[in-house]
Amino acid sequence: METKLWNIDEGKEVYQEAAKLLQNGETVAFPTETVYGLGADATNPDAVAKIYQAKGRPSDNPLIVHIADVKQMDEFIADIPEKAQKLMDAFWPGPLTLILPLKPGALAPSVTAGLDTVGVRMPVHPVGLELLRVTGRPIAAPSANRSGRPSPTTARHVEEDLKGLVSAIIDGGSTGVGLESTVVDATAAVPLILRPGGVSIEQIEEVIGPVKSAKNVVKQEETPKAPGMKYTHYAPLAPVYLVQGDADFWEKQIERGLDRGDKVGLLLSDELAAKISEPVMKIKIGSKSQMDEIARRLYDGLRLFDHTDTTLILAETYPRDGIGEAIMNRLEKASGNRYLSKEKELPR
Ligand code: TXA
Ligand code: MG
Repeated sequence: METKLWNIDEGKEVYQEAAKLLQNGETVAFPTETVYGLGADATNPDAVAKIYQAKGRPSDNPLIVHIADVKQMDEFIADIPEKAQKLMDAFWPGPLTLILPLKPGALAPSVTAGLDTVGVRMPVHPVGLELLRVTGRPIAAPSANRSGRPSPTTARHVEEDLKGLVSAIIDGGSTGVGLESTVVDATAAVPLILRPGGVSIEQIEEVIGPVKSAKNVVKQEETPKAPGMKYTHYAPLAPVYLVQGDADFWEKQIERGLDRGDKVGLLLSDELAAKISEPVMKIKIGSKSQMDEIARRLYDGLRLFDHTDTTLILAETYPRDGIGEAIMNRLEKASGNRYLSKEKELPR
């Protein structure tokens, strides 16, 4: 398949052309404030099938439906609980997805993987929002990466994964948040955070009071609440280890890696990079005093290793408050939860 590449600076026609493709059941990748999404008409089963195909996504992992106007929800949402309404008022448009009861038969069944709920979000990115407005339909859009890969924060990342597999890619520059939306199940009396993301848990609790986190729930339940959370995610090609320790401990782990014959690469903050003198590749993703920047550059950093001969990635960990919770969630997924500490050093 030929993939059209449009830059949004080419003008208003890009929205018209892209909307036409979406209305005709084709797939279009577009920027949102979190990550690039791969869109298709959520009411068209053939169009939705093309998303799963292009991503290589397991069919039991449901998609988020994107809208430009809350009125669109009348078509496919059965009921908006009070707490959900409060969250919509506070954070839409923005990086928050709400799981809500679906009107039976209103969307292609594959969008929700057969569930009777659906994830909905209204992005704030001007390009994504305008495309949704011009298209006028609910658009199913997972992150525009091949399944299991780090999510795309630039059009280049989308090209790396999906060129030849989708109808068009709209380049609107780098995304702002850099990590996916927070997913909240608002159908429960005490809402459940299914995935930490662009809106922090603290911000959500300020609006609706205490919430639960699905972290433990997902591990215990046989059918996870957010089906997507059980798969390996966000992973570059080389294995990732999360390192907990001071600069001396880091240098020791680097030496152990080099002794094994590994090409070691480091993913770390500017501050830690300044303390480590080993001559290995260092990918710096910003200052620890600017956690938003670390979030914004995390996926690009992970993806950069794929263009090198790195065989082992050692990554720094961060405090789990604010956006730190989402950063650590993605790093734990990318590493398969492999930590290195005094108790558990890199295997020789
Ligand atoms: O920021 C984002 O949310 C991006 C941009 C493109 O909007 N999209 C995104 O979609 O991250 P995706 O498909 O990569 O992640 C969707 C997550 C998955 O973990 C999925 O399991 C969960 O939302 N999800 C979707 N519908 C659900 C439902 N009905 N019940 C529970 N979890 C659901
Ligand atoms: Mg994804």
